[in-house]
Amino acid sequence: MRGDASLGEARSVEVALGERSYPIRIGVGTLARAGPELALRTGAKRAVIVSEPTIARRYGATLERSLRSAGLTVGRALVPSGEKSKSLREAGKLYEALIGFGADRSTAVVALGGGKVGDLAGFVAATYLRGVPFVQVPTTLLAMVDSSVGGKVAVNLPQGKNLAGAFHQPRLVWIDAATLSSLDPRERAAGMAEIVKAGAILDAGFFACLERDVERALALDPDALVPILERACAIKAEVVEQDEREMGLRMLLNFGHTLGHAVETLKRYRGILHGEAVAMGMAYAARRSEELGLAPAQTATRLVELLGRCRLPTHLPPFPRNAYLAALRVDKKRRDAHVRFVVLRGLGRAETMPLTPEEILPVGAMATAARGTSRSRRSRDGR
Ligand SMILES: NC(=O)c1ccc[n+]([C@@H]2O[C@H](COP(=O)([O-])OP(=O)(O)OC[C@H]3O[C@@H](n4cnc5c(N)ncnc54)[C@H](O)[C@@H]3O)[C@@H](O)[C@H]2O)c1
Ligand SMILES: [Zn+2]
Repeated sequence: MRGDASLGEARSVEVALGERSYPIRIGVGTLARAGPELALRTGAKRAVIVSEPTIARRYGATLERSLRSAGLTVGRALVPSGEKSKSLREAGKLYEALIGFGADRSTAVVALGGGKVGDLAGFVAATYLRGVPFVQVPTTLLAMVDSSVGGKVAVNLPQGKNLAGAFHQPRLVWIDAATLSSLDPRERAAGMAEIVKAGAILDAGFFACLERDVERALALDPDALVPILERACAIKAEVVEQDEREMGLRMLLNFGHTLGHAVETLKRYRGILHGEAVAMGMAYAARRSEELGLAPAQTATRLVELLGRCRLPTHLPPFPRNAYLAALRVDKKRRDAHVRFVVLRGLGRAETMPLTPEEILPVGAMATAARGTSRSRRSRDGR
């Protein structure tokens, strides 16, 4: 991907949350220019960049230089790669690093990395001295359009994911799409699943735009990618603006996640990326929406086809129905005996529907859902 700052005309999305409002800046090769706005938005004189070793090696120096030239004193704190380090233990080490750096209430915490780093650094920023300014510099596609926008920060506990967390909005989200050039294509596709989700639940026009441009975006053609990043961030921003604390509308973002989480649980988070599990869950939920007479024909077909073009899986792994039902029963979105299942009314239109696990997965549904990739490939090629 072109990394020349002059080629990437920066775009901007505003997240309007009253005095907690902040901009998302989107460009290509813009990492070296983050300093002045970061200093302005945080009012900080000092900043600590939190990152992982591999990401810091690639992008740390550029960001650090930019912050220094904007007059900031900069420290670095590295956390080991892998979801395991999104823990209280690593948070504890980060508090120590901040104290060692002499960080005070006006010291900014800057997350440079994917959603793991962003959630962990954000959790620390939310709690250190009861909250310090926080900036997200996301380097995965998922983090750019999903986890870095909206202010949800968390660490995992041994009992489950994201069990200790807070809402802590960043002061700035700085997206340099050129950082995606080093990201594994499988991780890119997984991030694209959340972008497809945004179109599927809220924006039919955007969904059609993805149908036109998705391969070019995944190949990091800026002309296709930057507008897609912008639209996806704008959708997430709109949802967060209307429902910052996840009481209603934000629930729609769980489209594909009920069964996606079940798949992740049943696979013990091994060998599957979150976006891949969500793709399976979305394909299932779209088919189920059609079966329930809620969505018109072709809804699931178009969604499955688009996910397939991203090389994302669209069938549930063949665990027994009972295993799925058990996993759905512990889903945290459950109210009484019901799960707030997100269904489609069509592409770009979603709503939640209280369904029991048995209604989500009626007898016989598994047979279709897990029919395997051979069928999906055939149906894809057959058209
Ligand atoms: N806060 C939220 O609203 C929210 C929403 C969705 C997901 N999440 C969280 O986000 C996390 C997942 O985020 P993710 O998918 O970004 O995963 P991640 O942060 O684990 O990154 C995925 C992998 O890509 C590597 N990587 C990151 N940027 C890179 C780059 N530019 N080049 C090369 N390698 C790079 C990382 O080292 C890691 O191995 C989970 O912890 C999840 O719970 C949070
Ligand atoms: Zn997700």
